[in-house]
Amino acid sequence: MCGIVGYCGHKNAAPILLEGLKKLEYRGYDSAGIATLCGGGFCLKRCKGRVDGLVPVSELAGKTGIGHTRWATHGAPTEENAHPHCYGRFAVVHNGIIENEALLKEECLLRGEHFASETDSEVIAHLLEEGFAGDLLGCVRKVCARLRGSYALAILCSAEPDKIIAVREKSPLIVGARRKECFLASDLPAIAGEGVEVYALADGEAACIGAGEVKFYGKTGAEVQKTPVIYDFEGENAEKGGYTHYMEKEIGEVPASIANSLIDFSSESRYSDFCKVLCQTYYIQIIACGTAYHSGIAAKYAMERLARIPVEVCIASEYRYRDPIISPHTLVFAVSQSGETADTLAAAQCARERGALVAAITNVPYSSLTRMADFVLFTHAGREIAVAATKSYAAQLALLFSVALFLSKERLPFSVLSDFVELSRHTLSRCFCIADWAPRMKEAKSVFFLGRGVDYCNALEGSLKLKEISYLPSEGYPAGELKHGTLALVDDRTPIVVLLTQRALAEKTMNAVHEVVSRGAEVFLVTSLPEYVGAEGIRSVCLLPECAEIFSPLLSVIPLQLLAYRVAVLRGYDPDKPRNLAKSVTVE
Ligand code: G6P
Repeated sequence: MCGIVGYCGHKNAAPILLEGLKKLEYRGYDSAGIATLCGGGFCLKRCKGRVDGLVPVSELAGKTGIGHTRWATHGAPTEENAHPHCYGRFAVVHNGIIENEALLKEECLLRGEHFASETDSEVIAHLLEEGFAGDLLGCVRKVCARLRGSYALAILCSAEPDKIIAVREKSPLIVGARRKECFLASDLPAIAGEGVEVYALADGEAACIGAGEVKFYGKTGAEVQKTPVIYDFEGENAEKGGYTHYMEKEIGEVPASIANSLIDFSSESRYSDFCKVLCQTYYIQIIACGTAYHSGIAAKYAMERLARIPVEVCIASEYRYRDPIISPHTLVFAVSQSGETADTLAAAQCARERGALVAAITNVPYSSLTRMADFVLFTHAGREIAVAATKSYAAQLALLFSVALFLSKERLPFSVLSDFVELSRHTLSRCFCIADWAPRMKEAKSVFFLGRGVDYCNALEGSLKLKEISYLPSEGYPAGELKHGTLALVDDRTPIVVLLTQRALAEKTMNAVHEVVSRGAEVFLVTSLPEYVGAEGIRSVCLLPECAEIFSPLLSVIPLQLLAYRVAVLRGYDPDKPRNLAKSVTVE
């Protein structure tokens, strides 16, 4: 992860870089820094913590510069480890991991060089300084040829002012150009603007960026022409719209997210090629990480139930290492909000190499995943700013359920799914009880989330949301599994959140409820089954509207997202920027 930016133009670079970095903070916020070329050397400012710590930047003169917001991998989040890293004539910002850093560093140490940081990135500046003899691009190419791992780099050289060299290998990087100005960034929001033409670098490509001029170079070093990518510039929807945090605002956008992401595959001709493949599919694999993985679990239940097609859900970071089997007529869905998650990209690549067709499900049109997939299905959740995924999860569910509905042997009408737009609005209006639940949970030593059948996906997702933003230990379990060991942890200080949306499974799930209640635990029930309101031993109920049960995760996740949000706020944490995390994880 980490976010990098660059600017070369006729204006002071530092304020522009600062604004760009603020828009990339979702990629990490452990430390930040800016370097500009000024007076034949570098002006450098770095800080521990968030980008705001760089303010003011007025002392950073210069019209060419680079910036970085960090998610720490190698080395603690300190000012010394903040990028840019300067050595000799070079300043470097890096997103990625240099896996052979130790070997390369050893070589520099033997030459008597000193390192100022514990990062894997500083060695790049050392290698550039050692190798530079006048041909900047050639030197960068030679150094890159020695790096193993992933990187997006922006490089300043004081011997060649008014220029930035950018290179990419397995970490995202885009370049923007308009009259007299060039930009670069890890992601579009940092550079999109009126009249900016945007180019996406591919792996192995480099760009030489000057004021108003950019040249691209392919893997062989020869200059290449690139076509600008098409994007919608809607401006940055960074307003909180009266909400205190983005997360709360984005939970409120779940109904719109569902509405925009549902696809009636039967009636939309632009998906006809994809539908042909779907109709010849006998086995489905879903690869994803984090919240996206939980959408895959929900999809498994829906697809297997409705379409009778076997579905395997795979944690993307494990996929390559288990030697996956791709049988004929296998379709792989790679689900990723950002489309940049390194683990998901690597797994999708592995699946393609083994002969599978890959369909990307992503929220970001120009992302790396869209460029490598055979089919691309967009979720239209809109830009999600809070690190914890909320509306994008609902969008992934909506899209995957649309596929399940299309494959349905029963050929259910689309309205079964489209009803969930209104139902999710009703759900939001019924979540007032969460304000009462959160204070009772905020001091818990651990919280368990239980669900059976399709409810299991949100037992996992509710638990993930709670732990990632409120830092309370938490686990999601299939309701029947708790008794096989973990019940030993349950006592009268253990809140248990139970999901109950499928009538046929309700009695079985209630067995688990009785087991925990008799150990003194307090149960918080999220259900769409009104007959369980007032059930023995349960005082706290969030009653959802009744709905088509197999799609109920679209509703039951809403109170869980709100619960995590409220608990985090009560515990005094910023739910939009949880510690140690980043929204887009571009390292393996
Ligand atoms: C990170 C985020 C999670 C997210 C996961 C997958 O870990 O913190 O919220 O679910 O990445 O991200 P993706 O962009 O691939 O959906």
